Amino acid sequence: MKTKTILFLATGLLAGTAWAADAGVGEKMVAEKNCAACHQRLVGGDGSKIYLRDSRRVKTLPQLDAQVRYCSNELETGWFPEDEAHVVAWLNHRYYKF
Ligand code: HEC
Repeated sequence: MKTKTILFLATGLLAGTAWAADAGVGEKMVAEKNCAACHQRLVGGDGSKIYLRDSRRVKTLPQLDAQVRYCSNELETGWFPEDEAHVVAWLNHRYYKF
């Protein structure tokens, strides 16, 4: 009983730290805002090629951060920097692996 309470509290604390970048959250955000729609027009397929092509622009983590911010502004997502961090974490985890 006591252990359960502690576990419950610990999980709650972890979930409550909004600034901790979470790739799972980022994945949902990218899908929700349909980021791919625009990229599909550029590179075809499901749009993910934009992250994987040889001539990709993003070569470092700070560049990824800047590009996500740029595209997020274009799309007027209204994301805050701590929201964008989730998306950076997702794209880095899935595609860039810096
Ligand atoms: C208005 C159209 C548009 C939308 C919407 C858009 N993007 Fe982009 N995205 C672009 C363009 C244009 C590029 C740059 C392509 C180039 O320069 O070759 C790009 C490139 C990128 C890259 C870098 C790819 C590389 O070359 O390494 C990332 C990362 C990215 N977008 C993330 C996002 C995210 C996240 C969203 C959703 C919030 C999003 N984009 C929505 C147009 C868009």
